Amino acid sequence: MMGLFITLEGPEGAGKSTNREYLAERLREHGLDVVLTREPGGTALAERIRELLLTPCDEPMAADTELLLVFAARAQHLAQVIRPALARGAVVLCDRFTDATYAYQGGGRGLSLARIEQLEQFVQGDLRPDLTLLFDLPVATGLARAAARGRLDRFEQEAGEFFQAVRSMYLQRAGQAPARYRVVDAAQPLAAVQSALDALLPELLERARG
Ligand SMILES: Nc1ncnc2c1ncn2[C@@H]1O[C@H](COP(=O)(O)OP(=O)(O)OP(=O)(O)O)[C@@H](O)[C@H]1O
Ligand SMILES: [Mg+2]
Repeated sequence: MMGLFITLEGPEGAGKSTNREYLAERLREHGLDVVLTREPGGTALAERIRELLLTPCDEPMAADTELLLVFAARAQHLAQVIRPALARGAVVLCDRFTDATYAYQGGGRGLSLARIEQLEQFVQGDLRPDLTLLFDLPVATGLARAAARGRLDRFEQEAGEFFQAVRSMYLQRAGQAPARYRVVDAAQPLAAVQSALDALLPELLERARG
């Protein structure tokens, strides 16, 4: 038995966290076993790594340290949550996954994409998301939303060009593998974003039921 692995991606303030609950509810209404989780984190230990990644710190974090921490958290999350859930046939709905590593550490930090690919293969083996919902919106709109939410985390303190590179990398990856990505216009009012998600629901249900 193999479940369905769906990831939610997109830059700061795109609405991933706002909409993941909405999507989980729609899928549960149809009787599906849904595991809602997030990265970095998703287990007690991985959430501690998340704290290291997100908390601003006087000592600058080397980009390679950041990359390895992201994959260390992911290894834990895969072992404890994602693989067991998929093995029992559940739908795993994950707020950020490896596309975020390509976007933030690859696009944003400028780390080698080949290096990220090596780590992806090392940590995940052949496991990749079945479907990725990319919440796309102009950088300024997302940053304004994130700022209104409160204190900025270590990533949110980056300059605008960092987030332009993040957004471009997401869109580039979606363009390269259109079969896996569904791009949602996340700049719309929440009701319109949720209508767009409703429109995707039949396909999600069909794939979840295999
Ligand atoms: N379509 C929308 N229109 C207006 N505001 C929105 C919309 N979607 C979400 N928001 C608001 O924007 C803020 C950021 O949303 P959310 O936390 O869901 O984004 P996110 O993609 O999870 O961001 P991050 O990557 O920083 O975790 C929240 O305050 C949320 O209420
Ligand atoms: Mg979020």
